[in-house]
Amino acid sequence: MNDDVHRYNRDRWEALAAADALFTRPRLDLDAAAARAYLRLEQLAITEELTGTRVLCLAGGGGQQSAAFALLGADVTVLDISPGQLARDRVAAEHYGVETRTVEGDMRDLSAFEAASFDLVWHPYSLTFVPDCRVVFREVARVTRAGGRYYLMCANPFFSGLTHASWNGEGYTLKDPYVNGARTSYPDQEWVYDRAEATIGQPVEYRQTLSHLMNGLIGEGFVLTFLSEITAGDPEAAPGSWGHFTDVAPPWLELVWRLKGSCQWAHVG
Ligand SMILES: C[S@@+](CC[C@H](N)C(=O)[O-])C[C@H]1O[C@@H](n2cnc3c(N)ncnc32)[C@H](O)[C@@H]1O
Repeated sequence: MNDDVHRYNRDRWEALAAADALFTRPRLDLDAAAARAYLRLEQLAITEELTGTRVLCLAGGGGQQSAAFALLGADVTVLDISPGQLARDRVAAEHYGVETRTVEGDMRDLSAFEAASFDLVWHPYSLTFVPDCRVVFREVARVTRAGGRYYLMCANPFFSGLTHASWNGEGYTLKDPYVNGARTSYPDQEWVYDRAEATIGQPVEYRQTLSHLMNGLIGEGFVLTFLSEITAGDPEAAPGSWGHFTDVAPPWLELVWRLKGSCQWAHVG
């Protein structure tokens, strides 16, 4: 897969990794308890031991989640578009003395993996970097075993394209039509990387409406087991700040799905 979407994301994430941007810094301070807490497994009702669980960190490079799962004894594979991000996963694996397999690729094409080869697909924020989430869902359904799970953290589609910079003195201006696949772009927050050191293109994202997301996964045979709106908000924060914006408009959704099949409710691991 080598289209404009692929090239833009690859170049942008290579630049972000080179600039040591926020999402490219490996977690090197974890132990097993901290890893469970970092992944928020109890809140997600993923309570079992993960030793030997086959985890795919999908578009999840950077050395954060891969390191946490490996510390918990999981058999970890990371697929990411950015070699720089995958290098961070290898740095983290070496730091902890664990094995992690890294695979360069596009989340829309998981042909590097056999069918049903993962117990848990863990997909941190990245889905909106591609125009059609359903291409990704089809691939995820293929590589997840029956009874396996898919964790998805993604943009809350109602606030797609809005940031704290959308403050108009009274609220945050919603102005774009609610259309699936609509392209949006906004500046990275100022704390993501040091502007004095690098100039990097803005993220280009595509709105995935809630019905398109949910019906897409239902159509692939997934059953929803957990949903939350993630806020990072601060009720005391000043209007127009990130803390205030995220208190008013939860920017992310977090979902856990279970793939139906012959061993539908089998335990992961
Ligand atoms: C916000 S980061 C999420 C992962 C990171 N571990 C974290 O904790 O934030 C987004 C990741 O998606 C990757 N990415 C962007 N577009 C992609 C695509 N089309 N296929 C695979 N990975 C992609 C980037 O290289 C980056 O590592």
